[in-house]
Amino acid sequence: MRRAVAIGCGHYLPERVVPNSHFEGFLDTSEEWIEARTGIERRHFAAEGETTSMMGEAAARRALESAGVDAASVDAIIVATSTPDLTFPSVATMIQARLGMTGGFAFDVQAVCAGFVFALSNANALVISGQADRILVVGAETFSRLMDWKDRATCVLFGDGAGAVLLEAAEGGGTTRDRGVLATDLNSDGRHRDILYVDGGVSSSRTTGHLRMEGKEVFRHAVEKLAETAHAALAKVNLDGGDVDWIVPHQANLRIIKATAKRMDVPMERVIVTVRDHGNTSAASVPLALSAGVEDGSIKRGDLLVTEAIGGGLAWGSVVLRW
Ligand code: UT7
Repeated sequence: MRRAVAIGCGHYLPERVVPNSHFEGFLDTSEEWIEARTGIERRHFAAEGETTSMMGEAAARRALESAGVDAASVDAIIVATSTPDLTFPSVATMIQARLGMTGGFAFDVQAVCAGFVFALSNANALVISGQADRILVVGAETFSRLMDWKDRATCVLFGDGAGAVLLEAAEGGGTTRDRGVLATDLNSDGRHRDILYVDGGVSSSRTTGHLRMEGKEVFRHAVEKLAETAHAALAKVNLDGGDVDWIVPHQANLRIIKATAKRMDVPMERVIVTVRDHGNTSAASVPLALSAGVEDGSIKRGDLLVTEAIGGGLAWGSVVLRW
């Protein structure tokens, strides 16, 4: 059975680290409130002129290096982002050019914070259907450029960064012992558009706009839907929380991460947590957490991982994979 196996990963974070205390200078907020309500202690912000494609390229290069693979041998690049350099062309084609690739195909996926899970699931489908043998899946965001700096309920939450995973086709035995993607579960419900959105866009206001969120409502959906989608993906291959070595969750809020782990019966010792240092980096958060977990030795070859994420749309989903 053809499987899409992860053979490398990498991440990039902009140099500038912004601690919670930064926001006390211009907002009615406190270091303590931000940490207590979200688990976030600091985040990275892109430098002036530093774009999503630049960060995505850096993460992609590290993923290629860790796999010992040449960019020229990659068939496709899928980038999950809601903060592209330009309205078009896609960030994926920009990264393709930056990597010196002249063949293959590249496109972006937009499912906001769930973007990487959607991209990974699509990459898996392309690999198992034989349309590509090697795919770079990148999550890259500059959410700092979407913030309304007067809105204390949102601007303290987000950060910038990028992560990448390189998938390669391999022959598996067709059991859950196989390495690679074992199951995916994708969902969306456009009725919830108004609880998390950007109030600008090309065909409406012709502006970039700012992120708007009803935090409490999103929180409620997240706690319910993340465990649900993770359970659904695991159930497709007759697994459950007890089989999971690591949850690699979307890093929006430590309270959501804890509540989801609890619902899945997975102790926090088996959850990768980077929200303290990265904040919410939207589509970059899962690959950033994955790459950080591999780098610090937590995630080992053969471990069973479940990733889950939810974002604007609402769109949410999960992927079960053996590393
Ligand atoms: O990645 C996409 C998915 N996004 C998420 O998953 C985010 C989900 N939502 C959340 O993480 C949380 O809802 C927040 C962290 C955004 C907010 O936490 P909360 O515990 O739900 O707080 P709240 O919105 O109910 O606000 C509680 C109080 C309010 O004051 P009053 O009305 O009780 O007087 C807010 O005005 O906290 C106030 N508040 C703040 N206070 C200090 C809101 N933001 C801040 C702030 N500093 N930065």
